[in-house]
Amino acid sequence: MQIKSHVETDQSELSNTTRRVFCTDLLLTSAGLLLAAPAATKAAAPQDSMVAYPPRKIEGAETLLPGSSLYFNYPTRNDAAVLLRLSESEYRAYSRRCSHAGCSVDFHPASRCLMCPCHRGTYDARMGHVMFGPPQRPLDEIVLEVRAGGHLWAVGKNSRNTEIITQNLKGGD
Ligand code: FES
Repeated sequence: MQIKSHVETDQSELSNTTRRVFCTDLLLTSAGLLLAAPAATKAAAPQDSMVAYPPRKIEGAETLLPGSSLYFNYPTRNDAAVLLRLSESEYRAYSRRCSHAGCSVDFHPASRCLMCPCHRGTYDARMGHVMFGPPQRPLDEIVLEVRAGGHLWAVGKNSRNTEIITQNLKGGD
């Protein structure tokens, strides 16, 4: 019985270690892609599926160091979001609403993943795609724009998760 418990602990630690390594490796791969494709270093461009919302300047974005994050709200004060500075010139922003059941994801600098505390769903920082756990859809992406003075603005949301978010809202979350 005790041996089984020990094995389970080891597997859990292995899973966490693998998760950390994988997220970090993915980020390094992303950096490699950036070097090969400098055009991708600007803030995320609006896409066909983007839903525009009133633009809002992300206060404090200019002080963000590479590899760190800043929590903000967008498009309303009730919509938790996170801005990530992946490298000197690459930013990403996502809704913090987990696509599984709506818990709020957190950015973990050590692993460079977005993790959900409810059921351990894990998303990659570069695209918001699911890497581990029960979520079936990526995180909603906040569309960014660099405006006058080099300030970063949120201008919309990539609607790739609209269906899931609508379902969650109907569920009374
Ligand atoms: S609510 Fe995030 S993994 Fe379940």
